[in-house]
Amino acid sequence: MKIENWDELQAEELYEIAEKLKKEKNCFVLAHNYQFMEVQKIADYVGDSLQMAKVATKTEAKIILLCGIKIMAETVKILNPDKKVLMSHYDADCPLANMKSPDDLRALRKKYPDAEVVCYVNSPAALKAESTITCTSANAVKVVSSIPKEKQVIFVPDKNIGAWVAYKNNRELIMFDSYCYVHEQITLEEAMMIKEEYPDYSLIVHPECTLDVCKEADLVCSTSQMIDFVKENDRVIIGTEIGLYYQLKYHYPEKHLVPLSPKMICDDMKKTDLRGVVRALEEEKYEITVPANIKQKAKKSLDRMLLFI
Ligand code: 13P
Repeated sequence: MKIENWDELQAEELYEIAEKLKKEKNCFVLAHNYQFMEVQKIADYVGDSLQMAKVATKTEAKIILLCGIKIMAETVKILNPDKKVLMSHYDADCPLANMKSPDDLRALRKKYPDAEVVCYVNSPAALKAESTITCTSANAVKVVSSIPKEKQVIFVPDKNIGAWVAYKNNRELIMFDSYCYVHEQITLEEAMMIKEEYPDYSLIVHPECTLDVCKEADLVCSTSQMIDFVKENDRVIIGTEIGLYYQLKYHYPEKHLVPLSPKMICDDMKKTDLRGVVRALEEEKYEITVPANIKQKAKKSLDRMLLFI
């Protein structure tokens, strides 16, 4: 199938082409919960970081196309070294992941040579390769609690998830000062104000929010754990990237849902659109590669993460 008139194709035609291409190429499409609904509709599976990683190890498809950001596609590639892994947009990346380099982590490890390193999944493969175990927002508290109390723990790169995990585990962690700009921007005052405005709503937030905001929330959890909460509750303030709010509004129109802030937009997650995904499928781009030495070490760290589902 060679398509020349991309700009003229309407949504319905694009969905039709996507279905044909997925079958023809034996391609499995994964989308993160933050993706536009038009993109989620193409996906064979929509989920959070941990779920996507797990599901990616189960598919028999020859190609996996990930709609999200580079660190997620890299994770899928590391866990599936023999599959062709494509990413929906050539430069949808994660600013948090790139705030510190592997050299920064090596320097920290030199300073604390006996510490175990826990690496949050929003990190480049090279950082995962320097760590004992990777975690996501869904299992970070559990992963750290599995490390004996007498051991020092370096937790990178997100200082806010680190602070939340330290608080929940009642232990000190050695951390970087990196953060996610989408979540970090929410102030305690904003969280308190919205709770005042909607007194009978539950506030649920992602642990990339600051510790002050997390402490104000009724639940701190991953995006898919938020979906589970909304299934059981009718009035909820959604404290994460706005894409999740739109997904929930779409699937649960009868529920009373409010975004914590309309400012919570991840520009990189929003780089992927319907046309872009179908085009990536047709042209089999943008292929993800990870250098062999990094891949092997990072896989060990990611395999351990998958034990904490
Ligand atoms: P999840 O762990 O819910 O997938 O969140 C990932 C993320 O990028 C949060 O900003």
